[in-house]
Amino acid sequence: MKKLLLFAVLFVVITAFTRIMQDIPAGEDAKGTKSYDQYEKPKTCAACHTDIYMQWTQSMMSQAYTHHWDEIEYFDLAVAHAEKDPALKPVADGCNGCHTPMAYLAGDVPPPRPHENSRANESVSCDVCHTIKGFKGDTPFNFSYMSSPGRVKYGGKEGRKSPYHDTEYNDLFTKAEYCANCHNEKDPYGIWVKATHLEWLEGPYSKQGVACHQCHMPKARGKSAKMAEEDMVAQHLFHGAHDNGKVAGTVEIRMHPDQREVEQYGQVTIQVQLFNGKTGHKFPTGSVEDRILWLHVTAIDENGTEYHLPVDKKGFEGEEYTIAADVLAYQDMGIPKGIENFAGVQRDGVPYGDRIFRMPYFDPQGRMTIMQWNTKSLGVDYRIGPRETKIETYTWTLPDDLPPGRVTFKAELNYQKLVKPVADFLGVPEDESEIIPVNTGTTWIEVYE
Ligand code: HEC
Ligand code: HEC
Ligand code: HEC
Ligand code: HEC
Ligand code: HEC
Repeated sequence: MKKLLLFAVLFVVITAFTRIMQDIPAGEDAKGTKSYDQYEKPKTCAACHTDIYMQWTQSMMSQAYTHHWDEIEYFDLAVAHAEKDPALKPVADGCNGCHTPMAYLAGDVPPPRPHENSRANESVSCDVCHTIKGFKGDTPFNFSYMSSPGRVKYGGKEGRKSPYHDTEYNDLFTKAEYCANCHNEKDPYGIWVKATHLEWLEGPYSKQGVACHQCHMPKARGKSAKMAEEDMVAQHLFHGAHDNGKVAGTVEIRMHPDQREVEQYGQVTIQVQLFNGKTGHKFPTGSVEDRILWLHVTAIDENGTEYHLPVDKKGFEGEEYTIAADVLAYQDMGIPKGIENFAGVQRDGVPYGDRIFRMPYFDPQGRMTIMQWNTKSLGVDYRIGPRETKIETYTWTLPDDLPPGRVTFKAELNYQKLVKPVADFLGVPEDESEIIPVNTGTTWIEVYE
């Protein structure tokens, strides 16, 4: 009898629990189900979690709504596109599900512009992240998190005591799936336009249990709150493409010629090995439609004359998108910008003939796009995977007037967060299209008469 009662109680508790979990709406169903007042301001947390707060204010997630390029792409392209094509309204609203979750949950979409200083500016805030209770579905994507604001702050540690709030251990906080809620994105055409977590899942780091946290929130000895005991504390760095030091050295470069001594008027082939020893996902990842990673190879002779070497073609399908050329693209920006028959802008904005490590996104007309919500198909994936090594070759017929002596070859791998011609066209401030050096390599030959 006692056993039966216990089972009955357990049954009630379990069904109630699953009901609570199911009752928390996620994704598009969550729009307008909460209010701003239910979430605390980051400044409140700063009083005790000072270091974590200061770290977070320097991360991109604290600026996910206010950052200039986000404001430009959201208002000038996404919202404007949805005004022309009302079917896109839920998609444009959805930007906020990841960039300013509180505004989305409060149904305040589009939110006031950043200069109006509304609470939407808090972006991906402390309380947004620490009131995530779970997620809906098997694979988290498109703001599939379940938000449960209140006294309880969820975290990745057990038995923490705070004078200000309750704490609850939630193992999701230690897992890559947690980040996947916003770092995987599927567009209206069913295309994975952001897949950082999926890339991680198929790569070597997931197999070794190295979650996103180990590289983006590394633990260090310190105090997580002013009154806390010393412990290994998760640093809220979230450093990525906007931290030049994080990008630097992501790929290591070695190179060699097929022969050291080359006869005048002869030919030499330079091989370049590029090893991605640093990212847990592909490089580039995330906003792949915006980013450009390219290899520039030059030769300098005895007299200091410089020659640019174009990469040898490999012959794979879609390779034309991976070699810089004089072509126009991104014509679909004409729709939101209200320019009829827009010719587009330069596709690459880097020296012609350089190898580009990228995956092109195509609009419904098959033209390259940076509007990820307007992506109907993806092109060849020629990015560098985690721990992958790619080899590029450069066959060079020595110019007739090349003097005998040493020729030094240099390979420079550079990164840009936003393709420069697009940045210039949209008026995005320079820092978004600055050239970030990733690494260099060098080798030489001796030319004899
Ligand atoms: C009055 C001080 C105080 C304030 C204000 C405060 N906290 Fe805390 N919090 C603490 C202390 C103390 C701990 C326990 C630290 C420990 O022992 O490691 C803690 C722990 C936590 C944890 C860890 C929970 C776990 O299980 O891993 C999270 C998450 C957290 N706080 C989030 C927040 C957020 C979000 C805010 C703002 C909305 C906030 N805190 C405001 C003092 C505070
Ligand atoms: C993008 C989501 C996200 C944001 C934003 C965020 N946190 Fe966290 N926080 C986490 C995760 C995930 C962990 C657990 C990390 C782990 O255990 O590896 C964590 C851990 C913590 C801890 C426990 C640290 C420890 O290791 O003892 C505290 C305290 C905390 N966060 C407070 C804050 C405060 C305060 C803010 C805002 C200033 C904030 N967090 C912003 C996701 C976030
Ligand atoms: C609620 C949604 C959300 C969650 C959860 C989230 N992120 Fe983000 N994250 C974003 C958004 C939005 C951006 C883009 C910020 C911007 O506009 O530049 C971003 C940007 C980043 C960046 C890029 C910084 C840069 O310099 O470009 C890193 C790194 C990052 N997140 C790591 C993480 C990790 C690790 C986790 C899990 C512990 C996580 N994020 C969880 C929404 C989220
Ligand atoms: C082994 C270390 C490592 C792991 C694991 C890892 N990352 Fe990264 N991540 C990096 C490095 C290094 C960079 C900088 C180079 C770059 O931009 O890709 C980076 C960059 C990023 C960026 C910025 C990309 C851009 O171009 O704006 C985001 C977002 C990001 N990581 C999210 C994640 C998420 C989410 C996970 C887990 C699913 C994760 N990372 C796992 C090392 C790692
Ligand atoms: C599923 C979550 C999600 C949705 C939905 C989403 N984003 Fe993002 N967005 C992110 C994350 C995560 C990053 C950071 C990726 C990276 O660092 O490469 C990002 C990066 C960006 C960036 C580049 C930021 C930079 O500084 O380089 C822009 C601009 C942007 N998003 C605009 C939008 C717009 C406009 C929409 C709606 C059409 C949108 N996003 C929808 C999660 C999302």
